[in-house]
Amino acid sequence: MRIFSAFAALCGLQATLVVAENTTWPWQTFKSSPHEPPSLKISKSGLTSPGYLFFDQSWSAHEYSVFIMSDSNELVWQGPPGDLKGFRVQKLDGKPVLTFFNGLGVPEPFGWGYGIVQVLDESYQSIYNVSVINDNYKALGSIDSSSFVSWIDMHENTITSDGTMLVTGYNVTQADLSSVGGPKNGWIADSLFYEIDVKTNEILFRWSALDHVDQIPLEHVQPFYPIKDWGHNSSSPYGYFHINSVDKFQDGTYIISSRYYCSLFKIAKDGSVDWTLQGQTGGDFELNEIKFSYQHDARIHDETENAFILSIFDNANSDVQNGTDHTEGIFMNVNLLTREVSLVRTLQDPQDEIFSTSQGNTQLLPENHVLMGHGSNPKIKEYNASGSCVMTAQFGFDDVISSYRSYRSPWVGVPKTLPDVFSCIDQGRNRTNVYMSWNGATEHKQWKVFGGATRSNLSSVAVARKTGFETLASIKGKLGYVQVEAHGLGIQKSVSKVVPVQSGC
Ligand SMILES: *[C@@H]1O[C@H](CO)[C@@H](O)[C@H](O)[C@H]1NC(C)=O
Ligand SMILES: *[C@@H]1O[C@H](CO)[C@@H](O)[C@H](O)[C@H]1NC(C)=O
Ligand SMILES: *[C@@H]1O[C@H](CO)[C@@H](O)[C@H](O)[C@H]1NC(C)=O
Ligand SMILES: *[C@@H]1O[C@H](CO)[C@@H](O)[C@H](O)[C@H]1NC(C)=O
Ligand SMILES: *[C@@H]1O[C@H](CO)[C@@H](O)[C@H](O)[C@H]1NC(C)=O
Ligand SMILES: *[C@@H]1O[C@H](CO)[C@@H](O)[C@H](O)[C@H]1NC(C)=O
Ligand SMILES: *[C@@H]1O[C@H](CO)[C@@H](O)[C@H](O)[C@H]1NC(C)=O
Ligand SMILES: *[C@@H]1O[C@H](CO)[C@@H](O)[C@H](O)[C@H]1NC(C)=O
Repeated sequence: MRIFSAFAALCGLQATLVVAENTTWPWQTFKSSPHEPPSLKISKSGLTSPGYLFFDQSWSAHEYSVFIMSDSNELVWQGPPGDLKGFRVQKLDGKPVLTFFNGLGVPEPFGWGYGIVQVLDESYQSIYNVSVINDNYKALGSIDSSSFVSWIDMHENTITSDGTMLVTGYNVTQADLSSVGGPKNGWIADSLFYEIDVKTNEILFRWSALDHVDQIPLEHVQPFYPIKDWGHNSSSPYGYFHINSVDKFQDGTYIISSRYYCSLFKIAKDGSVDWTLQGQTGGDFELNEIKFSYQHDARIHDETENAFILSIFDNANSDVQNGTDHTEGIFMNVNLLTREVSLVRTLQDPQDEIFSTSQGNTQLLPENHVLMGHGSNPKIKEYNASGSCVMTAQFGFDDVISSYRSYRSPWVGVPKTLPDVFSCIDQGRNRTNVYMSWNGATEHKQWKVFGGATRSNLSSVAVARKTGFETLASIKGKLGYVQVEAHGLGIQKSVSKVVPVQSGC
């Protein structure tokens, strides 16, 4: 067991989780860098889309952080330590940015969080923090929230083309649960979502499920998430709605996903519910060849006036019900005129059936490839246009490590930090080993190594082709000091500090 400070990266926040680390799954180590990303077990059977893999890891993971890694198991960037989730590349002002949740993720059976969404630029500098500060929240009764800096939940961080961000929130509050057999003075975890201006944090839209309980009654969730013993106190609130994604239509209305209603709701600009798409009964729609439940990550594609394509990550499993139906990605055509929903494609790997009980996502890539992260099952899979699984990248054991969402994206990283170098003498071979890396840099292809007997008299001693996150150059003889310089297109300020060579490797 170890004590992990979830809020290490958020100054002022004190909350600790006790996490049992699983030390069986291998991780990578480097001489020039303290980072220890998981070792990806990769199998590839076809062409994958261009770009790197972006993912977070938690639960019993060796290091809680976010990672950019290549299909060949090379680290590109590891983020700061922390309970970071939903890590991906998005666009803000036409420029690529990195976004992720940073805060406290409360484990299942709650499965929500409290924190901020960070926005980093191409140089990994923090440019914006999206937060909800003054909106009068109450946390789970078992949690000390006195030092929370923001109340945003980890489930959503989508940036819209208007420079706003869609985020979610969970408020523990009182509600009358007698209609579903719970206490009259019961406790509930309300689900909220917001549209927020990224730069000013101004709240432009705010919606709460409890405010619309007339249209989304508690009775409807009972078949999928029965109230059981929930709701008697604020440490055990009935988290009945469990919002887990928000997307926006062109006309400014929203689609939100409720895990436990197994439903997607269209929310009008006045907050009312325009329609319900329920995964078992259809709700306001007729389902053709489709069933889904406990889904995540509902996304709008190819929107026209009367129809759109909807993609979801269909867990088909939860803490309530699991082991019967496998998880898959589903793309469906939603016809708003005929109110019919028909299947476009499903994605799953018959060689490796997954039953994901929480989290996960489905990302549409160019050329109709699809990437899926599987939440409670730490596997990233990519499918090609014919639906064949062309890559699996695994980074832990099922239900031991989790990753909220995983993505693939092209990315150019231009860190402001300097390259790192470590050097030591291989006494037996009378050589100096020089290890060099540059966390986050993507464009360098080559390293130049400078060495000498003294700090002030360094000269060029080697040129080495970059071989991965860390490159080793082995130089004849014993150097006293070394310095390295990264070379590649458009790279400036890429010279490391001068470091003394350690006497033994
Ligand atoms: C955002 O929050 C992080 C974590 O507390 C902090 O390190 C960073 O400086 C903040 N960035 C901005 C732009 O305020
Ligand atoms: C890690 O998880 C695997 C799979 O559940 C298990 O077999 C192994 O014993 C675990 N190792 C540790 C150190 O917890
Ligand atoms: C998808 O991959 C399978 C297996 O590798 C291959 O047979 C098929 O031709 C690929 N489809 C496309 C559209 O590339
Ligand atoms: C949270 O619930 C409290 C009541 O417990 C209420 O006063 C407050 O307005 C709610 N906050 C939000 C953001 O809905
Ligand atoms: C809250 O309710 C749950 C379920 O009824 C119970 O197990 C737990 O002990 C209660 N906690 C407190 C602090 O009263
Ligand atoms: C699967 O469902 C059973 C109840 O049917 C529950 O006891 C168990 O905890 C669930 N497993 C997971 C991983 O959620
Ligand atoms: C500096 O190193 C060069 C060889 O790299 C050597 O010729 C020269 O004498 C050295 N100068 C000093 C001051 O050590
Ligand atoms: C170590 O290598 C250097 C440079 O090649 C050489 O000058 C020196 O004699 C070697 N020392 C030993 C002990 O072999």
